[in-house]
Amino acid sequence: MSMKQAVKLRRPVLKQLTQASLQNEIVLSHSIWVRIFHWGFTVSLTGIILTGLILHQPPNFLVLNFGKVFIVHLASSWFAMGFVALRITDAILRRDNSLIPKIEDLKHFPKLLGYYFFLRPSPPPNRKYNSGQVLMYFSWFLLFLVASLLGLASYWQGKHLLWVWHMVGGFQVLRWIKFAVTIYFLATIPLHIYLSLTEDISRLQAMVTGYERKPPP
Ligand code: HEM
Repeated sequence: MSMKQAVKLRRPVLKQLTQASLQNEIVLSHSIWVRIFHWGFTVSLTGIILTGLILHQPPNFLVLNFGKVFIVHLASSWFAMGFVALRITDAILRRDNSLIPKIEDLKHFPKLLGYYFFLRPSPPPNRKYNSGQVLMYFSWFLLFLVASLLGLASYWQGKHLLWVWHMVGGFQVLRWIKFAVTIYFLATIPLHIYLSLTEDISRLQAMVTGYERKPPP
């Protein structure tokens, strides 16, 4: 069909054609709660990490009010904890275990690395997320919960969560652990962004709109 003819099609006909070719081909990959969690957590975690680094060691070139930076750090942390609570509730209600690693994920991981390092032509089979994604996402959830607990312990200094202070062995160790968690996030997030942009861009589309085109069988 030439371009001229295609333009001449009446709008209802065009609509029907478009629907016919898209029906059964577009699938919902991420529910609205997963998307709200994902982008909300991305923004709030960025806030936590940047302000956390400034509070840890204020850089000379930034003249910032320490109290205000601290408030942004606290607010971002409460928001991030809220988004994580939302995602956990959503997972429980939908009985979604896509973020929980299984033994097969550990078995598939070396093969996935082989694929990433151009040693295998195709990645091993995976569930919703591949083994590398599941292991990384799960580690982020765990470390975020650990860092939040440590953060709350220092926020409620001496009032609540005293056992946390005793368990880690004081404020300096607590700071050190939070700093190490920050470095882990900083090292792994760029990898997540790089793979999201280079591996299969329709997955990124699905994280925005919810939908993506079904892969060919
Ligand atoms: C601009 C930055 C980012 C982009 C482009 C991005 C992209 C994506 C995409 C495309 C997916 C879906 C993967 C798939 O379907 O195979 C995803 C999932 C995910 N991302 Fe990101 N992401 C970004 C930042 C972050 C950050 C900062 C975090 C937190 C450390 C994060 C945590 C996650 C988690 C936990 C999932 C799994 C979602 C779920 O099922 O709940 N992302 N991301």
